[in-house]
Amino acid sequence: MSTAILSALPEEQAGLVHALQHPQRITRAGRSFWRGELHGRSVVLALSGIGKVAAATTATALIEHFGVARIVFTGVAGGLGDAVRVGDVVVAQTYLQHDMDASPLFPRWELPGYARSLLECDANLSALLLIAARDCVSSDSGQSGSSSVPRSAHKGLIASGDRFVSSAHESLSLRDALRAAGHEVLAVEMEGAAVAQVCRDYDIPFAAARTISDRADDTAHVDFPQFIQTVASRYAEHIVGKLLQSL
Ligand code: ADE
Repeated sequence: MSTAILSALPEEQAGLVHALQHPQRITRAGRSFWRGELHGRSVVLALSGIGKVAAATTATALIEHFGVARIVFTGVAGGLGDAVRVGDVVVAQTYLQHDMDASPLFPRWELPGYARSLLECDANLSALLLIAARDCVSSDSGQSGSSSVPRSAHKGLIASGDRFVSSAHESLSLRDALRAAGHEVLAVEMEGAAVAQVCRDYDIPFAAARTISDRADDTAHVDFPQFIQTVASRYAEHIVGKLLQSL
C-alpha cells in the first residue's frame, strides 16, 4: 500500500514530482495525483489545495480512490510559539481548527459530533517524521537565510483555519486565547486539521511537518512567498526522503 505525500503549494511539491520514479499522473476530483516510487517506496503525491475544504476533498480522494495506507503532509506554516522561528520545522502532535466556533451550543473550538477540540496525529509516524525533520534542520542550518542561528525541530499543537494570519495583533490574540484555554499553539496554517479529521474518520495514520515561512505577523505576506520560492521544496524533499527510508 502507498504512502500519500500531501503538499499545499506547487512550489513545495515540485522537487518531489521531479524525483518520482515511474511517474503516472491521474486526474480525480479536478486534481492531479502522481503515482510512482520515491526511495523504493510506493507513493501518491498530491496537492491539498488551500484551505480546509480543499484539503479534505484531496484527503478523501487519496483514501477512497487510491487506498493509501497513511497520509503525510509537508508544507509551511506561520510561527506562533515564542521559540518557533522562520526556518524551524514543527511536527504536529495534535491539530485544532481555530475557526471552529459553535458556541454557545458547544465550547469554542470543539468539533461538534467529535466531543473534542484536539485531533491527535499518529504517534509512530510522527516520531519518524520528527527524526527526519531534525535531520533536515541540522544539515540545513545556516543555508536557508542570512542568519547562522541553528534551526530547530519542534513538536506540538498546530492550529488550522481558513485565514492567512498576517498581523501581529491577530497572531497574538489567537495564541493568547488558545493559551487561556490550556492549548500552547506552535504554528498556524490552513489545511492540516481538516486532513487530520478525515484521517480520523477513516482510521488512517496521519502526520504533518510544517516549515516556518513567516511569523504570522505584519510582514508575513512578504516573508511567505520569498520562503516558498527559496526553501520550501528543498525542505520537503529532505524530510520526505528521510521519512520514506525509515518506513
Ligand atoms: N501558512 C504559512 N504562513 C501562514 C500564515 N501566516 N497564516 C496561515 N497559514 C500560513
